[in-house]
Amino acid sequence: MCLKGVEILDHTIVVVGTQWGDEGKGKITDYLALKADMVVRSQGGNNAGHTIRFNQQKFALHLIPSGIFNSGTKNVMANGMVINPRALMEEFEMLRSKGITSFQLYISDRAQVIMPYHLEMDELLESLKGEESIGTTKKGIGPAYSDKTNRIGIRIGDLLKPDRLKIALDNALAFVNPVMKTFGRTEIDSTEVFNEYIEYGKKLKPYITDTSLLIQDALDYHQKILFEGAQGTMLCIEHGTYPYVTSSSPTAASVPLSCGISPQSINEVVGVTKAYTTRVGEGAFPTEFENEISKKIREVGHEYGTTTQRPRRIGWLDTVILRHARRINGVTGLSIMLLDVLSGLEEIKICTSYELEGKIIHHVPGHYEDFLKCKPIYITYPGWKEDISNVHSFDELPKNCQNYLYAIEEFTGIKVTIISVGPDRDQTVTLKKYFE
Ligand code: GDP
Ligand code: IMO
Ligand code: MG
Repeated sequence: MCLKGVEILDHTIVVVGTQWGDEGKGKITDYLALKADMVVRSQGGNNAGHTIRFNQQKFALHLIPSGIFNSGTKNVMANGMVINPRALMEEFEMLRSKGITSFQLYISDRAQVIMPYHLEMDELLESLKGEESIGTTKKGIGPAYSDKTNRIGIRIGDLLKPDRLKIALDNALAFVNPVMKTFGRTEIDSTEVFNEYIEYGKKLKPYITDTSLLIQDALDYHQKILFEGAQGTMLCIEHGTYPYVTSSSPTAASVPLSCGISPQSINEVVGVTKAYTTRVGEGAFPTEFENEISKKIREVGHEYGTTTQRPRRIGWLDTVILRHARRINGVTGLSIMLLDVLSGLEEIKICTSYELEGKIIHHVPGHYEDFLKCKPIYITYPGWKEDISNVHSFDELPKNCQNYLYAIEEFTGIKVTIISVGPDRDQTVTLKKYFE
């Protein structure tokens, strides 16, 4: 720990997804967390699924930050999150069953609670949309954020105050139950939900605090803080492929607001990107393709959702969306993930721009209908045959693989600072020293 006033240039790092989620944020957060004093999840809920592997063990986290495996690191679930206490209890149990019992966890009293009716609403909205459904994770994320902005949400702090919880629940149900009735669903029993959730309050009490103050203390003491993104920039409610997005902003810009700290607090933004592209759920995806190569990538990369087990859609690397992510997030370094998965391919393509109605464009168009019509323009690179999953330096990579990375730097304008060649914590090559 450094004392206040000592200049450290990268003591706060945001780990942000640059694509449609599942880029490998969990792996990189866990890796960088080895040197972090604090790891903070700022938004989203258990729609996220972050996979971490070390010492032959595999973990899938949905709510709890990926720094939880270091007993010396404080882990914070900040105000911008939507937290399902039932899911959180399951996650505690999963950690306990794997012997992870000594950890530091703090939950914001301002974070929103995902209630059972949010899951029902999520499912209902999706079914009403039919062909136009988003393909959500059905974890109640959208309805929970809607209730937040409708000012009928329930906050984690309310679970500690029975009188307040009763009023807040009745306010919400005055709106929710007529909807349930209209669509032939069972109305929500206020007392039943109250009794269940007040018990969660008792269980979570030791963790609940004003995390904005806690993070500020860490900032004041120039502690090393890692902000773990969930989802990805293209799923951003503001800058993603609306309406095929999630209901929060997974960008670096949303971190200060979602944590209750100042915008000046962020030093570095690590943009996490796969060496290709994937997407789960519906929505336009210009570089998507389905053939023997995509099948191979899906199998070698185990491209099945961590949260919903759905097969992920596969596409080539799209540097148009990476430049979009660079601009929106101020990405200062790229972490290229799953590079090993491309080994053995004859050729690898990079999308550098789109063709939209006969014109070449270099940006993500604002209107979804236009994005849907974008055709990728590719440059093709020769692949490499060697297995790279055991390399420990850039120099050990095959020449064609190095050239592929140089091309990514050229088309994104961002330096590659981390290379991941396998799912394990140890299969990581760093080209820049973070937190040193
Ligand atoms: P997140 O949501 O961004 O944390 O990503 P997920 O955990 O949902 O998906 C990433 C998947 O890729 C997980 O199964 C990881 O174990 C795996 N993974 C991460 N990095 C690598 C890598 O470099 N190579 C391979 N083969 N798998 C990786
Ligand atoms: P991580 O943190 C990939 C997608 C869903 C759906 C859309 C809206 O693991 O990268 P939602 O349930 O949020 O209302 O669904 O967003 N989605 C994700 N896709 N990774 C995620 O998180 C995602 N979180 C949401 O599949 O298309
Ligand atoms: Mg994931």
